[in-house]
Amino acid sequence: MSPIAARRPGLWHGGDYNPEQWQEHPEVLERDLELMKRAGCTVMSVGIFAWAALEPEEGRFEFGWLDRVFDAFERNGLSIDLATPSGARPRWLAERHPEVLRVDADRRRRLFGTRHNHCPTAPAYRERVAAVNTALAQRYGGRPALVLWHVSNEYNGDCHCDLCQEAFRAFLRARYGSLEALNRAWWTPFWSRTYTRWEQVESSSPIGEGGLNGLYIDWKRFVTAQTIDFLRAEIAPLRRHAPGIPVTTNLMGYHPIELDLHALCRELDIASWDAYPAWHAPEGDPATAQNLAMLHDLTRSFRRGRPFLLMESSPGSSNWQCVARRKRPGMQRLAGLMAVASGADGVMYFQWRKGRGGCEKHLGAVVGHDGRDDTATFREVAALGRTLSGLAEVAGSQVPAEVAIIGDWQNWWALHDCNHLRRDKRDHWDFVRAHHRGFYRQGIATDIIDAEADLAPYRLVVAPLLYMVRPGVAERLAAFVERGGTLVLTFWSGQVDESDLCFLDSAPGPLRRLAGLRVEELDVLYPGEKASLSMAPGNALGLEGTWAVDAYREVVHAEGCTVLATHDGPDLGGQPALTVNSCGKGRTYYLAANPEAAFLDAFHQRLADGLALPRALDGLPPDGVCARRRRAGDREYLFLLNFAEAERRMPLPAGWTVLDGPDAVAGVCVLPSLGGAVLRRAAPEKAP
Ligand code: GLA
Ligand code: ZN
Repeated sequence: MSPIAARRPGLWHGGDYNPEQWQEHPEVLERDLELMKRAGCTVMSVGIFAWAALEPEEGRFEFGWLDRVFDAFERNGLSIDLATPSGARPRWLAERHPEVLRVDADRRRRLFGTRHNHCPTAPAYRERVAAVNTALAQRYGGRPALVLWHVSNEYNGDCHCDLCQEAFRAFLRARYGSLEALNRAWWTPFWSRTYTRWEQVESSSPIGEGGLNGLYIDWKRFVTAQTIDFLRAEIAPLRRHAPGIPVTTNLMGYHPIELDLHALCRELDIASWDAYPAWHAPEGDPATAQNLAMLHDLTRSFRRGRPFLLMESSPGSSNWQCVARRKRPGMQRLAGLMAVASGADGVMYFQWRKGRGGCEKHLGAVVGHDGRDDTATFREVAALGRTLSGLAEVAGSQVPAEVAIIGDWQNWWALHDCNHLRRDKRDHWDFVRAHHRGFYRQGIATDIIDAEADLAPYRLVVAPLLYMVRPGVAERLAAFVERGGTLVLTFWSGQVDESDLCFLDSAPGPLRRLAGLRVEELDVLYPGEKASLSMAPGNALGLEGTWAVDAYREVVHAEGCTVLATHDGPDLGGQPALTVNSCGKGRTYYLAANPEAAFLDAFHQRLADGLALPRALDGLPPDGVCARRRRAGDREYLFLLNFAEAERRMPLPAGWTVLDGPDAVAGVCVLPSLGGAVLRRAAPEKAP
């Protein structure tokens, strides 16, 4: 696999750098260069919110300061990830074209201020973005320091202005062709919502339309499409004037809900994201690490087969989370290695230096206000820089996964807008996380894909609460199973189609034949209400005992499937809770309950054993240890990262040598709390 940019091989290390804020302090800029080299930084993200400095008046560009940054970086062997500045606009633009400011759902236009609040439709905004992007690409496209484009910043949000409403109607006309078709898809006779003219159609609002699920979902589809269209317009001048420079935009895990990131990332060369885990929180670092691993896996899956970048992470603490807890010694390195273990080819920070003013002046930075390099944070960053430089050969290696979990935005929207589920228990990603944990804890690589992804690379696919089944999805899942794949479905699947209209067949609708059962009803339990399932004696999974069930259980009727577990209790006792059904060469499990985490762990372990899925270690990693592998042609890398409070020891499998981290003595790898090791071996002919 190729590196992110041929010009800058190895693992990247750097962060957001804001020289535009320090133009009156040339001595600070000088010192920055010195400190960057000392910290082992290689690539800095420059210009993210610098529009006012780049174009102080419409059409008058001031590139002198940025020229000097390029010159200095090139003199010092540093590279630049150059941003387009659309994340925050200058005052003159909003003054001259107020329509670039966003209109909220309650139809109030925002005043000028802060960032991330532009209208993606306004022609004036697109024009000025194209102009500044063109100027940047023409001026810097050929500079040797340029290695990546950082388009905008954390795209998010929607705009409800008249221009966007007009574009929404055009989107719907293209989707439905006629108003009659739209009325049918949105089930508008419900509460007399029938549309009689296209002009009546507009986005939902807290003071207007709400409760039309089809409208809610189509608005999100539109916002995604419009943001992608805007992104394309941003990228076009970059590709034209700076061909060959890869393009990314920094994402935020699975946020925001309104942007289908699987779709958006198809426009990018490289996926990248900003990670702010709450380390040392009461839930414990192993749980935080698993959630972080899931988000890394998601980001890697956006551009499957390519490396991704950890674009932002806090070198110290955040200041926008409830608690600005400082990282304990070791966590800097461990969290950085976790990104690399998951497929990242770079660890970058927000921010390089603390600004003097503004609301992020206390936010963690590599360099504080006093510009010192003898702080714990600086030392840890510099140590990680050395580690990453020693691991340069890992860059470009892959994380091959044979398991995929379906984490799908359109399904998320449908679940999110669905009355019936418990409000505190309907987040799609909580269910994805619960299943991901079962594989993470076994050291099994997992991709997170959308419902339309190619299933060919996988042997096991888990689709938690696949409530919406769009055309083609059931057919692809069936083909996957028939040629030998294992599919796991859960309760609340196959309920609605792409318009959020219920199937006029028993659930799981188009998945019914695969599951070999029919669902009668979903029973929702009160918080704290006790329920359980019991494994059937002698079941093929070899699981035993009684397991707690929380919040959901379904009444299902077997139609050819084998029952592996049954519900307990007076009302549903003895009815199927977990089933399996064969189809072609494969099989489909159906989990008609929401069992405790320990059950999912055990269940996925049995599935992995049965399929002999490759694990990072031969056995299970010790509790709290993250074990992940990357592979590049003839070499494999093994990452062992201890997020537990106590030391962990494990036998070192034969053939591995330590590349970084504690030595393995007498075949035993000893990992202190928050310690990690990276190992290497010649890869076996065929992936194990
Ligand atoms: C986000 C933004 C950055 C900065 C950080 C602070 O990720 O992209 O500009 O505001 O948060 O944590
Ligand atoms: Zn708008």
